[in-house]
Amino acid sequence: MNRVHIKTYGCQMNERDSEAVAAMLRARGYRIVASEDDCDVLLLNTCSVRDAAEQKAIGKAANIAHRKRRQPDFVLGILGCMAQNRGAELLDKLPDVDLIVGTQKFHQVPDYLESIRAAKAAGVPLATSIVDIAEEAGSQNTIRDHVLSQDVAAEATTDGVVDAAPQVSAFVSIQQGCNMDCAFCIVPKTRGDERSRPMDDIVAECRALAARGVREVTLLGQIVTSYGRRDYVHTDGISPFVQLLERVSAIEGIARIRFTSPHPRGFKQDLVEAYGRMPKLCGYVHLPMQSGSNRILKAMNRPYTRERYWEIVEALRAVRPDMYFSTDIIVGFPGETDEDFEHTRELFERANYDMAYVFKYSIRSGTPAAAMGDQIPDEVKETRNATLLGLLQQNSVRRNATLIGTVEEVLVEGPDKTGKKFTGRTRGNRVCIFDANPRLIGQLISLKIDRASVSTLYGEIVLAGVEA
Ligand code: 5AD
Repeated sequence: MNRVHIKTYGCQMNERDSEAVAAMLRARGYRIVASEDDCDVLLLNTCSVRDAAEQKAIGKAANIAHRKRRQPDFVLGILGCMAQNRGAELLDKLPDVDLIVGTQKFHQVPDYLESIRAAKAAGVPLATSIVDIAEEAGSQNTIRDHVLSQDVAAEATTDGVVDAAPQVSAFVSIQQGCNMDCAFCIVPKTRGDERSRPMDDIVAECRALAARGVREVTLLGQIVTSYGRRDYVHTDGISPFVQLLERVSAIEGIARIRFTSPHPRGFKQDLVEAYGRMPKLCGYVHLPMQSGSNRILKAMNRPYTRERYWEIVEALRAVRPDMYFSTDIIVGFPGETDEDFEHTRELFERANYDMAYVFKYSIRSGTPAAAMGDQIPDEVKETRNATLLGLLQQNSVRRNATLIGTVEEVLVEGPDKTGKKFTGRTRGNRVCIFDANPRLIGQLISLKIDRASVSTLYGEIVLAGVEA
């Protein structure tokens, strides 16, 4: 009766939130299970950034709700962004949902589950579903506990199941919320105001992860480049975010640092220079462009121009010539003309992205863009989307081709899907597949690349344990 399955939609922040909920539930004696079919509690951790993401989770909840008829004790909960965005209104469509918990209340999930389950066990189910989407001061500090795969493996081994690989890469939440008010974006509503965690707590968490074998951390927040701007001062022109990078960089055992998502506005000289002096900072930057048209950027309330964006790309390439770039683009923002899109296409091509997330604009009720005239027809969005994806595919093939014959530093993560080979990623975040042995998990190896598909590199180890 204590098996919980958590299904996560959306971004890495949501994955991290789910992990923290899983850690809290495990500490209360629940088992986190991989199967949605064999669980007693199903929690959907949801995304609101586009309508399609909400519809997916609503469809799933509607499909699952009928299970309650054959499994009366079954508990169904909706957590996260859609819970925050829609609140109790979700119950009109989904009356069988027991629990609706917003983005500042994840830490309350164990207590709420206890009340629901105790009431069901006593034969007097709660009269109404629990809905909690209130704001809570300090809630950004509650996303701190991890369940690493070795914990799950240790539990599985006591059940007689074979061991899993130790986890070498982990997400660390540093900041929640966003105050930027981009005209298209629901996140300020779903995630609230910008709130940063104390630097000491983040560093302590990274140290603890390193002590448990984690080698790579990805620092997460909706706008990480604004980290600590209200809580810490700049020292010698160094922003709080770069100060944090410096401190994480100094942790022994951590070999690689990544972060997401930054805002172009945050790429000042101090962050650009950080790439020159912090070798642990991976040469892969996610730099959301959204549009390459100055007119549309202005309408989006994005405070930079295409010229400034390009300046950042060039500055970063000057410091790290082999820098990898990814981006987010929205096509079909209200009023986007062929000429605007051509500006986006041109900058997209010039920036030569290694990875990109291209989104068709989706109306989010309550945001300024939802009320703008000149909404763009779906077919136009589709064509523009396909154009950019075509370019991306060409870039990826071209970049991978240049890697054939080179030697890349790869962090070995564990067995691949087949279980016969091993997988890891380069500093540029390219997935590699190769022969290795379990002793190399968590180590940096030199991999000679001999073959590539669109998204994956294949190679042979030439040197194991190439620690800096
Ligand atoms: N429609 C389409 N894409 C959106 N994004 C945010 N809001 C919308 C929307 N209304 C995209 C942006 C953002 C990414 C996480 O999602 O590109 O960077």
